Amino acid sequence: MTDSASFLDRHHFLLRRLHSLTGVMPVGVFLIVHLYTNSTAFVNPAKFDHEVSWIHDLPYLTLIEWCGIIFPLMFHAAYGVVIAMTGRSNARQYGWTDNWRYTLQRITGWIALVFIVVHLFHFRLRHWIGGANYQAVSADETPFLATVAGFESLTFLWVLLYAIGLTASVYHFANGLCTFCITWGITINDRSRRGMSFAAGGLGVVMLLWGFLSLYGLTAGADRERESAKPDSHETALSMPVESRIGG
Ligand code: HEM
Repeated sequence: MTDSASFLDRHHFLLRRLHSLTGVMPVGVFLIVHLYTNSTAFVNPAKFDHEVSWIHDLPYLTLIEWCGIIFPLMFHAAYGVVIAMTGRSNARQYGWTDNWRYTLQRITGWIALVFIVVHLFHFRLRHWIGGANYQAVSADETPFLATVAGFESLTFLWVLLYAIGLTASVYHFANGLCTFCITWGITINDRSRRGMSFAAGGLGVVMLLWGFLSLYGLTAGADRERESAKPDSHETALSMPVESRIGG
């Protein structure tokens, strides 16, 4: 047995609990806030600007991002990969539906992993490979215009990738909420587990709605904004090529 294997074995219970906890808090809570905030792009770009500016104005934002989102997500994803690669099919232990949920939890974990990496590169790390940095908001533009710039040139395949990644992440979280409640002894019988499944399913539907409204608001909605905008700074910024209005 290797050292790393024995470390994982020795701390199996603690790591499992930490994995479970980080999936809900903070990663799951972040996912809810992220989808809600982005959905305001559909309702009203000014509201989106307000929400994003509020987040950007938080003190110690970099520290909050790393300790509150990135490190917990990295841990959850890394240990999730360990679980997904070592987990056995439990077809004989559970019923048909539970077995499917177990399998889908793993499949959607893999999809979420790929999607999160692509999404991060698309929006936050693109300048590493010489592209535009869609996070950089220049003096004459709003967070909405900067974000729209990242979506306006997306092909159908990209939008499809976002739709799949979004659906997989939301399923993974909603179903994960149910298994989280079992892991922590919150739902202890069939009745409470069924109730939790409905509640998590409802939350998942709301989150999906927010996610798709965000996608619409930031892709098709960009055209609507361009047409309805008066010849002010919005239109000027949108009529310029992406690369020239975003700091890269
Ligand atoms: C959008 C980001 C993610 C969120 C919100 C999230 C959330 C969750 C939650 C709440 C659980 C349930 C924990 C429990 O049963 O106690 C879970 C389980 C799981 N997650 Fe994630 N997760 C995310 C990303 C990932 C990634 C990238 C992977 C990598 C493959 C992953 C792999 C797993 C696995 C394998 C399980 C099942 C663990 C088990 O059977 O006990 N997750 N996740």
